[in-house]
Amino acid sequence: MADANTPEPSVVPPACARVSNPIHEERHLRVICIGAGASGLLLAYKLQRSFENFDLVLYEKNGGISGTWYENKYPGCTCDVPSHVYTWSFEPSTSWSSVYASSDEIQKYFENFAAKYDLNKYCKLKHEVSKAVWNEAKRRWEVEIHNLVDGTTVHDTCNILVNAGGVLNSWRWPDIEGLDKYKGILLHTARWDSSVDLNGKHVGLIGNGSSGIQVLPAIHSEARKITTFICGSTWVSPVQGVDQRVYTVEERHVTSPDPKGRNRSYTVDVLLLLHYAKCHGDCRAYFFDAIRSIFIFFFCAMNLLRSLFPLS
Ligand SMILES: Cc1cc2nc3c(=O)[nH]c(=O)nc-3n(C[C@H](O)[C@H](O)[C@H](O)COP(=O)(O)OP(=O)(O)OC[C@H]3O[C@@H](n4cnc5c(N)ncnc54)[C@H](O)[C@@H]3O)c2cc1C
Ligand SMILES: NC(=O)c1ccc[n+]([C@@H]2O[C@H](COP(=O)([O-])OP(=O)(O)OC[C@H]3O[C@@H](n4cnc5c(N)ncnc54)[C@H](OP(=O)(O)O)[C@@H]3O)[C@@H](O)[C@H]2O)c1
Repeated sequence: MADANTPEPSVVPPACARVSNPIHEERHLRVICIGAGASGLLLAYKLQRSFENFDLVLYEKNGGISGTWYENKYPGCTCDVPSHVYTWSFEPSTSWSSVYASSDEIQKYFENFAAKYDLNKYCKLKHEVSKAVWNEAKRRWEVEIHNLVDGTTVHDTCNILVNAGGVLNSWRWPDIEGLDKYKGILLHTARWDSSVDLNGKHVGLIGNGSSGIQVLPAIHSEARKITTFICGSTWVSPVQGVDQRVYTVEERHVTSPDPKGRNRSYTVDVLLLLHYAKCHGDCRAYFFDAIRSIFIFFFCAMNLLRSLFPLS
């Protein structure tokens, strides 16, 4: 991997220079990726798997990889799709402790993934990308990065800049007048301070989005009193057959060979989810009927229109 000081080419080779090379010869590319969460790590994995003639660096502002799961540590933080589904299709895990695994477990999953495929060598931690400008003359991105350890500014360039900075990776306080004058403890789910003891405290919980509805049940037995501030309803689509629970030791080890003979195994829950759950069949039949009735209506309406307004 080249580092930030890799000399950039002084003369841009004209596109026609490649004509003299053999077909399919890889042009050398330097790629910069912003972020080392799930997206950045997958980019690294796929580039490494499929290409040779490249340099890659993932600039990551945090002190560790995994993005969302490195940052979100509030009580009750889990994924909200079954953990067996929240994995790379090519990298299943059978060690999840529960249907919806905790943030720590998911962070570990991505750390293990990076270690297994030697992806950490691409990651520059505590480096925050602060500016990127396309230089048309040089046909390269000029990227400015703050080294958060020593405060220096690093300049780098690349052919391809990938933004894997995370669409949710920008938390903020709600816009409440006087919030800055509040004398109590302020906690944000995206920057949870786990050293704060909620025991015996009166907690005001703002919001009932995905984070709010996970925090409430997780702290309600700890806090003395909780007052929730809610603007509207929360809509959650029903999930059947995959209620949250901790897997038994036996279940974690019950596996079934993949029908196609690939090196995969599933826990009981996933087998149920994928193959047997009656509710999924019922749901499919419901949507099938609903769509079919729409088509019948559409078909009849078209025929009626045709008979009323025949084309000459
Ligand atoms: C609490 C929570 C639970 C979620 N649960 C689910 C779920 O159950 N299922 C699901 O599908 N999705 C879920 N999501 C969405 C989740 O964010 C994505 O599934 C996925 O993890 C996003 O990965 P990412 O790499 O795109 O972004 P992120 O995980 O946000 O990673 C982006 C990385 O880029 C870094 N970065 C950002 N800007 C810069 C910069 N300027 N310079 C350097 N580095 C930078 C960040 O530090 C971060 O590490 C959840 C999100 C949250 C917040
Ligand atoms: N998959 C998971 O398990 C999981 C868990 C957590 C987060 N996430 C993801 O992370 C993202 C952020 O989720 P989030 O729940 O942290 O934030 P969010 O989705 O923005 O929800 C914030 C909630 O707070 C409310 N709110 C804001 N200001 C308020 C105020 N002053 N008074 C009362 N209510 C107020 C909002 O109401 P209004 O909408 O009316 O403004 C909204 O319902 C989402 O995309 C979510 O999918 C996922």
